[in-house]
Amino acid sequence: MTAQNGVFITFEGIDGSGKSTQTRLLVDYLTSLGRNVILTREPGGSVGAEEIRSLVLEGDPDRWSAETELLLFTAARRDHLERTIEPALAEGKIVICDRFVDSTRMYQGLSRGDLREKVDKLHNLMIQREPDLTILIDMDPQTGLSRAKGRQTAEERFEDFGQELQVKMRHGFLDLAQQYKNRFRIIDGGQAIEDVAHDIQLAVSDYLS
Ligand code: ADP
Ligand code: TYD
Repeated sequence: MTAQNGVFITFEGIDGSGKSTQTRLLVDYLTSLGRNVILTREPGGSVGAEEIRSLVLEGDPDRWSAETELLLFTAARRDHLERTIEPALAEGKIVICDRFVDSTRMYQGLSRGDLREKVDKLHNLMIQREPDLTILIDMDPQTGLSRAKGRQTAEERFEDFGQELQVKMRHGFLDLAQQYKNRFRIIDGGQAIEDVAHDIQLAVSDYLS
């Protein structure tokens, strides 16, 4: 499972920070430059992983323990990697992925007990791949949560853990960006959509050149 020439770009940030909006805009931008791009997401991005997505994102917040959740997210990621990400990278495509292992490092690694070491061990064992570039959309947790809650979907298990979790996740992501300085770019998500998109375009163009 080794990719040849593709570029793997991930988006991270708290719920409602604008990842889905900005991944779509980045795909449009790169496509307009003639780049071969695919957009995918986690949990999901392949048929099997999308089935696991509904298991982890719907229902009662206490439906799974943090450990079980870690195994489910990792199973979904392995399927996504085998069937979607690695083949696209091997064809030389730019793969843009809405969340990846850094979300597991945060949500399962930090949120309920300290599972970070297990997250990293399982990642090294079953996934291995790290992104080439990670765009962290940083923003105020309260605004993020109210944007996310405004969407009204069934996928609210994590949003139902509330604002305290969002605050913890925000700081966790900023710490992670320090830990993986080379691949992280921090973008201010509190701006208008077009301004956030512009900052992301600059960061990605800079990386690609
Ligand atoms: P995420 O994927 O990070 O949860 P979304 O892209 O789905 O975030 O955005 C959450 C909500 O906030 C959507 O309704 C979206 O239209 C809106 N939104 C996204 N970016 C901005 C922004 N910069 N300013 C105001 N609203 C935004
Ligand atoms: P997502 O659909 O990206 O939600 P949002 O658009 O609100 O940001 O992801 C859904 C939830 O899944 C999100 O609250 C974070 C959580 N999640 C994990 O807990 N672990 C993971 O490994 C991933 C990829 C997501």
